[in-house]
Amino acid sequence: MSFTVIDQAPPRLNRSELAVPGSNPAFFEKAAQSDVDVIFLDLEDAVAPDEKEQARKNIIQALNDIDWRGKIMSVRINGLDTHYMYRDVVDVIEQAGANLDLIMIPKAGCKEDIYALDMLVSQIEAAKKLKKRIGFEMIIETALGMQNVFDIAAASPRNESLHFGVADYAASTKAKTTSIGGPNPNYHILTDADSSGKRDVHWGDMWHYAVAKMVVAARANGLRPIDGPFGDFQDGDGYQAQAHRSATLGCEGKWAIHPSQISLANDVFTPTEQETTKAQRILDAMADAQKQGKGAVTLDGRLIDIASIKQAQVMVEKAKAIKARSKG
Ligand code: GLV
Ligand code: MG
Repeated sequence: MSFTVIDQAPPRLNRSELAVPGSNPAFFEKAAQSDVDVIFLDLEDAVAPDEKEQARKNIIQALNDIDWRGKIMSVRINGLDTHYMYRDVVDVIEQAGANLDLIMIPKAGCKEDIYALDMLVSQIEAAKKLKKRIGFEMIIETALGMQNVFDIAAASPRNESLHFGVADYAASTKAKTTSIGGPNPNYHILTDADSSGKRDVHWGDMWHYAVAKMVVAARANGLRPIDGPFGDFQDGDGYQAQAHRSATLGCEGKWAIHPSQISLANDVFTPTEQETTKAQRILDAMADAQKQGKGAVTLDGRLIDIASIKQAQVMVEKAKAIKARSKG
């Protein structure tokens, strides 16, 4: 193990994260009643320029008045290159900061972007004597952001999660896409010919590098890696395939751009009964070994290492949080 200890972000359930446009208050109550873990009320790309001000007001009112039923609440502010951003931060935190958990920072490009926001948020929190520290979730969705993702991830103790914004990332890198967050048939290889001369087409995952890099940056800094949008909300199977791919690489959750995607994400990112039972058995074996004063912990004839014990603790905690959420 390294001498460097990685501090972990506050453990929040983040299996599903619903995007709700701030300009559409009609959607708020339905979102509050859903089974989603995190909601981000959007001031950025889902809101037209002439609706930004009203959307900000809607969000402030909704944070203060709606019963969000224990959900984690975030607001996606406008980019640092716009003149909307400072008012998004000042007005929302000054007027509704006590009911806000996270600020989502779009198109994070470099560590100074995070530093600047940290300074602003710290001042407002102090001035308003807010008791709860507001966390940051950064969307990695530009070539610049991906180039600097390691610095961005380490830029502030407020940082909690990194999100892969595949739509803007495709635009920024000039990638050729056919659907938001889905595969592209042109991203394939041909196998060598078999004895009959037949060659198979093997589709690849064109987002593999980006998601894998973001996961490393997040995990090396104790943050949650979260996969972003999947545009075709009629295609539940396609959504779940992408979500399973991200979960396999280490992501903890995925965005839902439509309520129908919430249960799909919760399903993929909830540990299975088998996984939680195994994790609990690991912890029981560790407790037993400690009682008997044994140094090495074994389960089913195999030595259990510290890393598996830590993973088991995280898994059991997550299962408890999910149980508490479904009761609440
Ligand atoms: C999200 O903001 C995206 O651009 O995919
Ligand atoms: Mg975007």
